[in-house]
Amino acid sequence: MIETLKIRRVAGALGAEISGVDLSQPLSDSMIAAIRQALVEHQVIFFRDQDLTPAQHVAFGARFGPLNIHPYVAGMPEQPEAMELIKEPSDRINFGGGWHSDMSFLQTPAIGSILYAIELPEFGGDTLFASQAAAFEALSPGLQATLETLNGVHSASREYSAQGPSAQKRGSMKIAEADGYVGEYVHPMVLTHPETGRKALYVNPAFTLRIDGWKTRESKALLDYLFDHCRYEGFTCRFTWQKGSVAFWDNRSVWHFALNDYPGQRRHMRRVTVDPWPQIAAKSRVVQAAE
Ligand code: SIN
Repeated sequence: MIETLKIRRVAGALGAEISGVDLSQPLSDSMIAAIRQALVEHQVIFFRDQDLTPAQHVAFGARFGPLNIHPYVAGMPEQPEAMELIKEPSDRINFGGGWHSDMSFLQTPAIGSILYAIELPEFGGDTLFASQAAAFEALSPGLQATLETLNGVHSASREYSAQGPSAQKRGSMKIAEADGYVGEYVHPMVLTHPETGRKALYVNPAFTLRIDGWKTRESKALLDYLFDHCRYEGFTCRFTWQKGSVAFWDNRSVWHFALNDYPGQRRHMRRVTVDPWPQIAAKSRVVQAAE
């Protein structure tokens, strides 16, 4: 049976709200296929009024692929694949408060992230999403063709180092320090989506250090241009959370940014992250430390 979902687009470039499905229940294969289809088509999908225990959240995520265990952020003791993202009223820095694509610093980056809202501030705390497929399509054919020949070097070394932004969140969240050389991984700067065939830029300000084979200062000009281009408002949508909301985004073609505009208030989310089937990352490879 082909399942049909109620889908309402929320912006021109990406994003759709889906209704009529209870994610806490065991879902049929055809329902999972319909959700997957909506995800790859709209790049980020939103659900409202869900009630998910950590085990139900993990079970839903596992229908889309193997689940990631984050190398630096501690998972829940009883569900290590689920991590709690908490900003306490006394915290100044939030987790995910900059444009990024989850786990691009791994050899096999995550394909999807499923975020569930448990406790929200009275105002603020929205998440922004930006379509990197729309960003790629808006470039000239000349630059598109050039970028398709290039690879980006990604690493957690900057974000998760002792001096990096994550260090300042260690008070409330259990975030480990990236100790010493944590590895650099090369990914194509343009990914062709394995399910839609649509091309998207795959570089991000948090984890892309430089262009492979280029010196850091040579890369900077082109990467700075792309980082600026990729966050153009016309490529974005903005999600205002309610308790029980879920966002599910496709990291292969979406950046996201958790806004930090609720000082003195608490925000508590839970995330499950879906790893790729191994063959999807076949083009990635390990490189040596930067010069
Ligand atoms: C994240 O980067 O996964 C966190 C996003 C959010 O908390 O809105």
